[in-house]
Amino acid sequence: MIDIKRRTPRFNVKFTLHSNDMQGTGVNLSQNGLGFLTNEEIIPAEAIPFDAEIKGFIFSTATYRIKGTARILYSRPTRYGEGLYYNGLEFIDLDPESRQNLFDLLTDIHSFSRNDMENLRSKTLADFVYYPSGDVFSKAEIFYGAMSRLVEQKYEMFSYYLNSTSRSTSTLRSRVTGKEKEMIMMGSNNYLGLTDHPDVKQAGIEALKTFGTGNGSGAMVGGTMIIHKQLEEELADFIGKEAVMLFNSGYSANIGAISGLMRPGDAIINDQYNHASINDGGLLSGARTLYFSHNSTKGLERVLRRAKLTYNGKMIVIDGVYSTDGSLAPLPEIVALAKRYQCRIMVDEAHGLGILGERGIGASEYFDCLDDVDMILGTLSKSLGSVGGFVAANREVIEYLRVYSRSYLFSTGFPPATAATVRAALSVMRSDNSLREQLEENIACFRKGLLERNLPTNESPSAIVPLFIPDMDTMLEFSSMLFEKGLFHNVMAYPAVPMGGSLLRFGIMATHTRDELDRALDILESVAKTVRL
Ligand SMILES: Cc1ncc(COP(=O)(O)O)c(C=O)c1O
Repeated sequence: MIDIKRRTPRFNVKFTLHSNDMQGTGVNLSQNGLGFLTNEEIIPAEAIPFDAEIKGFIFSTATYRIKGTARILYSRPTRYGEGLYYNGLEFIDLDPESRQNLFDLLTDIHSFSRNDMENLRSKTLADFVYYPSGDVFSKAEIFYGAMSRLVEQKYEMFSYYLNSTSRSTSTLRSRVTGKEKEMIMMGSNNYLGLTDHPDVKQAGIEALKTFGTGNGSGAMVGGTMIIHKQLEEELADFIGKEAVMLFNSGYSANIGAISGLMRPGDAIINDQYNHASINDGGLLSGARTLYFSHNSTKGLERVLRRAKLTYNGKMIVIDGVYSTDGSLAPLPEIVALAKRYQCRIMVDEAHGLGILGERGIGASEYFDCLDDVDMILGTLSKSLGSVGGFVAANREVIEYLRVYSRSYLFSTGFPPATAATVRAALSVMRSDNSLREQLEENIACFRKGLLERNLPTNESPSAIVPLFIPDMDTMLEFSSMLFEKGLFHNVMAYPAVPMGGSLLRFGIMATHTRDELDRALDILESVAKTVRL
């Protein structure tokens, strides 16, 4: 998903990889790495000698030489043109002179960027991560200026507060004008609509009255209430694993499980699209994270082959359903590879739980792989309508993680009323299939509607439906027209999706009516005509 015509500053990077003697065009650069296009596929490697000459950036004619070792994160064909590959490269080690050259180059870029900060349209969020200044607040100042200008131009992607339950048509208040309006809600992960279910709300009220507002202390030192324990047992029974432990959020569960289990010398083998919390858990663990191209079992096997003798423990970590575009992981193939290379496997079911499989456990159940997946991660914040996360695995692993997951041990758990709402939501989910059936029907109807209108989406049974937009400008225009016409949605731009590509993400709910789905499709069709998608 790279946009060749992207107007963001581009770099003419003439680079030489000692192993391949390749040339290409740079598309992004930071102190951490470089994205670039090549005519040949580059084999992902852990540490390759890297020698780049970066020439003639924008107005400058200077040449910057950067030398050191780098890792190819991924290399995959672009959608545009035959034989063109998009590569992600991470610097591992640069010699001191190269570091200085890189710093000079980035200073050059940013001095240009600062003048060019009139609006965010020529930028991505990644452009504000580094800013060469002794004052660590400087980058916030330029970012704030750019965001404010974007809002002035009526691009309102982060500009609404919810002022009702997150229901199929919700009340949203504009941060800019303070005005409220009803919008069809397609920016929610409340897939089964359980945030507003009477039994779920009542359970929360009762628990609040009985147990009060909080736990008083951390989970291992007196802060686990019986109601938390009951929820753990019910979740373990539902998932079909020996034990479950609760975390404050799905984010915290990923951080805790991965950093609690993986150690320096181990390898975490990640799909490039994995959720940020998986990457962050890897960083915290000190283990090496190796990436493979999204859903590429060939890429995964290459990484596994290389990792076999180099690393101590190995674990593949994937999302069952990818949170940006709703694609499913090819789990049967991944499980077979995990077995062949004697590697553990963890699946993040944040967006599969409550939706996929016969009982609604997620992609692992949908593909009949539950027993082969060693560890399941779930959130309580999406289909279960509340907040929190959990990890399910065998008893030994869970009891080990209770002590070695720092986000569990050193943080107070969510309140008893939350445990009560999740228990009630789980009970509704397990006893009444009609919500899931309705959701399935709604997903199929919405996807079919997009395809009938020639709007670019993908095939997937997931409740996340993407609309692919070729570039940032079109996306901003498209998105702001949707908000104006009353269709609330999520905007996914770089770095949430690969450079240049953008997508709008629509979350389907069981409680969407046929009329709401039809109106949403009509709005999408009319906006697509206006912006000539
Ligand atoms: C795949 C995935 N994992 C984990 C999380 C984190 O979950 P939570 O929002 O409950 O912290 C998310 C949330 O968006 C997600 O999409």
